[in-house]
Amino acid sequence: MAHTSDLIATDIDAYLLAHEHKSLLRFITCGSVDDGKSTLIGRLLYDSHMVFEDHMAALAVDSKKVGTQGDELDFALLVDGLGAEREQGITIDVAYRFFSTETRKFIVADTPGHEQYTRNMVTGASTTDVAVILVDARHGVMTQTRRHSYLVRLLGIEKVAVAVNKLDLVDYSQEVFERIEKDYRAFAEEIGLADVTCIPLSALRGDNITTLSEHTPWYSGPTLMGYLEAVEVDDDRVSAPFRLPVQWVNRPDLDFRGFAGTIVSGKVAVGDAVRVVPAGTTSTVARIVTLDGDLQEAVTGQSVTLTLADEIDCSRGDVLCAADSPAPSADQFSAHVVWMSEDELQPGRAYLVKAGTRTVGATISGPEYLIDVNTLEQLPAPTLKLNEIGICDVRLDRAIAFDPYSENRDTGGFIVIDRLSNDTVAAGLLRAPLRRSHNVHWQAVQVDKAAHGALMGHRPGVIWFTGLSGAGKSTIANLVEKRLHALGVHTYLLDGDNVRHGLNQDLGFDDAARKENIRRVAEVSRLMVDAGLVVLVSFISPFRTERAVARALVEEGEFFEVHVDTPLEVAESRDTKGLYAKARRGELPDFTGIDSPYEPPENPEIRIDTSALSPEEAAEEVVQVLRDRGLLERPAG
Ligand code: ADX
Repeated sequence: MAHTSDLIATDIDAYLLAHEHKSLLRFITCGSVDDGKSTLIGRLLYDSHMVFEDHMAALAVDSKKVGTQGDELDFALLVDGLGAEREQGITIDVAYRFFSTETRKFIVADTPGHEQYTRNMVTGASTTDVAVILVDARHGVMTQTRRHSYLVRLLGIEKVAVAVNKLDLVDYSQEVFERIEKDYRAFAEEIGLADVTCIPLSALRGDNITTLSEHTPWYSGPTLMGYLEAVEVDDDRVSAPFRLPVQWVNRPDLDFRGFAGTIVSGKVAVGDAVRVVPAGTTSTVARIVTLDGDLQEAVTGQSVTLTLADEIDCSRGDVLCAADSPAPSADQFSAHVVWMSEDELQPGRAYLVKAGTRTVGATISGPEYLIDVNTLEQLPAPTLKLNEIGICDVRLDRAIAFDPYSENRDTGGFIVIDRLSNDTVAAGLLRAPLRRSHNVHWQAVQVDKAAHGALMGHRPGVIWFTGLSGAGKSTIANLVEKRLHALGVHTYLLDGDNVRHGLNQDLGFDDAARKENIRRVAEVSRLMVDAGLVVLVSFISPFRTERAVARALVEEGEFFEVHVDTPLEVAESRDTKGLYAKARRGELPDFTGIDSPYEPPENPEIRIDTSALSPEEAAEEVVQVLRDRGLLERPAG
């Protein structure tokens, strides 16, 4: 099934040798559903003769049955292997296809263009040299084109071929092509894509795929295949500093201890000084062991086992680095996050982050802003939804070695995994470690949380009461505080009404003000927890996201969300402050439950049904849970 070459007949050895030494180009194709991507790939395979004869026969039958091309071959059927996509006419999964020509070998990741499949595009793009972006000549540059181009740029792919397809449907119009080229180049310039080649073509008719078409005499650039064969790609990973993420520690007996993994950048030689990151210990390379015997030197892409001159600690997930140019390590980053799940990002929730060979616990903040791929505007948003790209803070539960993604695609990329479903929900690109003031490590302080806790004689924590106005939060919080105080617990009660008289007197009740209200109280609670106190917070705190952020500010096990669950009718009928009546009369806008939303907690530590319990019973239940969870115990150490 290989491409036809005269050498096959005359000198098979020479043919095989030439084939072995051909360079390899990895590229992706991206386009909207109907841009003709599958047809294009089918055409490339067909024109490089990478199609079995019997496959061709089947194609002819299928084309008649399913095809949309009358009596002609429907090349899309070569590629669209999945039944579902044949029926819906969309491509579903990333498919890697291999073909070769006289001069080069190719691996193409066929990434779906359908809106919800950004995930696959990201998966396909991360190992890629070139992107072929399809544009339907009838429609021009569309949102999808911009999104794909933005992602391509973000993912570090520097070379782009814009395949302006279906030119036959616009009468091979030079004017149409040139307008699309102008539009595209304007956008490419904005996002910093410098190396762009635009090619007018018809994948269906075979124009400018492998031979220049007589229909476009005005075009003098390369054919698509010509471009792919000639485009120069330099692998800048090879010249980057040495990095080897340790996959496993090979210890067959007491005399041998090897660190196995794939070199993701740079090279290493026997005698080189290396540093283990994040531990920071150093040693020199004693041996480079491979299945085919020892090497003196190994380079990017090779899988090797290194032994070191010294017995130092190094385990799976650590990264062996050039000692004089080590990767930094950090536990908090700013990152581009590409959300890829139907379930939106829940800021502050516990996720897993997999970076290289290490998987660690992580929380992700709501986005600082998200990026509108059409206008490149930075937009405020509380969370990230499917396909959205934002800048978020990522906090890991321990430090990892990393490089900024722009410097190293391997040690700078990560994926986010949902702890429950195990699904990959996002891809991330590390930008920089966070060094803003709120990320100063508490450990830098000598009298730290543990020291405060030792004097207090109990653990610190936040007991966060949330619920409608008039639900009974303050009443119950007061009773809980009295009980804890009597037990010798150092407490402080932050009550919405009171804090709004001082610290937050500048804030009203629209959504933004409520968010800021909660953000400040969450920060104050965090300080108080650091001081060793048990803080009781009694705020309506109507938004899940803000409560999740408050939770994320303290350690696991320190946050107790108490939902004081009183139905609106009951709270309204009590109307202790007369505010519901006012709100109903239209004199109090943005009143929670009336014309401002309340998002009840999904998994609170404690839910209090105030129709079943008296305030005293409710308070007792809260104290009991705190006792059961060890809050009242003297911390160890
Ligand atoms: S929150 O939504 O921002 O968390 P917070 O708990 O601080 O609210 O303040 C709520 C208290 O402010 C209520 O108990 C009520 O006394 C008073 N209040 C005044 N206006 C409003 C309003 N529009 N919505 C809710 N509460 C209001």
